[in-house]
Parts: sequence; structure tokens; C-alpha cells
Amino acid sequence: MTVLVTGGAGYIGSHMVLALTDAGEDVVVLDDFSTGFERLVSPKARIVRGDMGDQALLDRVIREHRIDAVAHFAAKIVVPESVADPLGYYLNNTVKARAVIEAAVRGGVPNFIFSSTAAVYGDAEEMPVTETTPAVPVSPYGRSKLMVEWMLADAAHAHGLNSLALRYFNVAGADPAGRSGQATQNATHLIKVAVQTALGLRPGMTVFGTDYPTPDGSCIRDYIHVSDLIDAHVAGLAHLRRGGAGGILNCAYGHGSSVLEVIDLVKKVSGVDFPVTLGERRPGDPARIVAAAERIRSTLGWRPRFDDLETIVTHALDWERRLLARDAA
Ligand code: UFG
Repeated sequence: MTVLVTGGAGYIGSHMVLALTDAGEDVVVLDDFSTGFERLVSPKARIVRGDMGDQALLDRVIREHRIDAVAHFAAKIVVPESVADPLGYYLNNTVKARAVIEAAVRGGVPNFIFSSTAAVYGDAEEMPVTETTPAVPVSPYGRSKLMVEWMLADAAHAHGLNSLALRYFNVAGADPAGRSGQATQNATHLIKVAVQTALGLRPGMTVFGTDYPTPDGSCIRDYIHVSDLIDAHVAGLAHLRRGGAGGILNCAYGHGSSVLEVIDLVKKVSGVDFPVTLGERRPGDPARIVAAAERIRSTLGWRPRFDDLETIVTHALDWERRLLARDAA
């Protein structure tokens, strides 16, 4: 049994590959290395460099490696970029995902895990959002992912492809052993930006909006440690392999932190009082997104190990220091 991990050289995909190879699984990584890094890929995995939209390549990989599960991570993930380049997002995230799904169906692969997103909820009226909260995405990014959820549901019905769509909330942190983390230099995500600022890689940072209807006026998000997220994938894979039902699961802890709380914690953990500007709202940011996170616990028996923002920030800082030391060497 071999797992095909698309996007296995990316931030989250590389953690999945490490978890699988740590568990003794055979893994094939398919990545075009447009945003991924070969050094993040577990040396125990086989790497196929190529385009996940290449149907012939997919068919060959699935046949040659006797793939029994696909974990499909490869995607573009920047919401504002998706607004500027919707067709690029629909090609990469939707059309190419369709190719991966078709190859899985054609190759008789029984199990499929898909990286979905909380962005499918858009500006949900009910909070916390449950898996049955209407999915009304407000960005091309969210729509590009929601369409894949629909394809998977239809492929399950028509072809018996058993799949889990995992809706990620705000993923942060890094492998506690320091083997992988977020390596993109121009990342936009809050915790990455804050730790880079703490380490002097940015002169300062801005809080995007302090007039939201939240206790301190800044936006609230449900941050989840990347290793807990990956534990959920591993549990999801075991669930599918033993014939468990597919479906949709929120991946989050079920409680939120504000932007100002995150920044204060990064200052405390790093010991650096870096410059912070209180700025205007960033277009498209909902005030608060917090998950109802019961279904994933009851379905997969998943229990987080790092449900503590200070631990997440500590691991993100450790990783950023490693990157700095590597660049300096
Ligand atoms: N923020 C700042 N300053 C920064 C960076 C971020 O104030 O320099 C704020 C944002 O405005 C937002 C919060 O920090 O209020 C979190 O922002 P991120 O960019 O880290 O994450 P988002 O909540 O915008 O996005 C995340 C995922 C997306 C997903 C989305 C779903 O990263 O992939 O949640 O809502 F689509």
C-alpha cells in the first residue's frame, strides 16, 4: 500500500509525508516545486516532479506504485491572489484536482483525502461554524475548493471513491522536531509575519483593523498546530482504510484568538518588543471564524496534542530561527 501525496513538498504536505514515513508507510510525492522545497520532503519518500494536471503522469504513478490512497494537498492558497487571478485558481485548484480525482477513480484507488478550507464558509452568519453551516464562499479561493468537495461527493456516489474533505482553519506552527515548517519568504499569514518581525526580518508589522465587533477590536481566528492537523489526516486515512464513511470535517480546536493576542504572545515568547502599527481593515477579512470541532473528534477519535497558542508560536519561532541559521551558513 502506497500513499500518493500531491503537494508533498509544501508546508502542510511535507508534514504529512514525514508523518507517513515515520509510521513506515510507502509514500510517493507528486510536486511541481513551484512553491515547494525538496529539502522539506522526507528522504524516505519517492519524489515525482511533475504537474498534477497531467493525466497520463497520474495514471502511470498510480499504476506503477500500487497507490491505495491519495492525499491531495497541491493548491494555491492566497485569498487576495485568487481575487486578482481567479482563472489561475480555478485551473490549479479545481480543474487539476478533477484530473487527480479522475485518475484515482480510473486507477481503482479506494481512498482520497482532500485539503479543503474554512474559506468555504465565507461570512457565515452562525458562529461557530459546523460542517452543516451553509457553504457560501466569498473568494475565488474558497469557491475553487468548494467545487472539489462537490466533485468528491459526486464521485463517491457514482464511483465509490471514499473521501474525506478536511476543512482547515488557520494552520500554523512547525514540526516539533524541526524537520519542516513554513518556508515561503513572502508569506502573508499572521503568525509567520509576526515571528519574522520578531527576528528582525521585517521592520514592523500592521494589525489589519482594530474596529471589529470583537472584545479587543481585532479579528479572531481558530489557530491549529500543523502537527495536529496532520494527525487528523493520518487518523482520517486509517478511518477510510477500515471502511469508515467519507464526508466533511472541520479541522480546528474550536476556540479562537485575536490578532492582538497573537502578537502579544509572539512578543512574549520571543522576548522582542517589535514595532506594530494599528492599521486599516484588510478587504475580505471576516471578524471572527471559529469552528465547531466536535465531528472530527467523534468520527476519527482525533485528540490534539498542541492545543496551546504558546506552543504553536514557540514552534513557529524555532523554525524561523532554523531558516535564519541555514541562510547564514
Ligand atoms: N493579519 C494582520 N496582519 C498581518 C497578517 C494578518 O493583522 O500582517 C490578520 C488578518 O487580517 C486576519 C488574521 O490576521 O484577521 C489572520 O490572517 P491570516 O492571513 O493569517 O489568515 P486568514 O484568516 O486570512 O486565512 C486563513 C487561511 C486561508 C483561508 C482562510 C479562511 O490562511 O487559507 O483562513 O478564512 F482561506
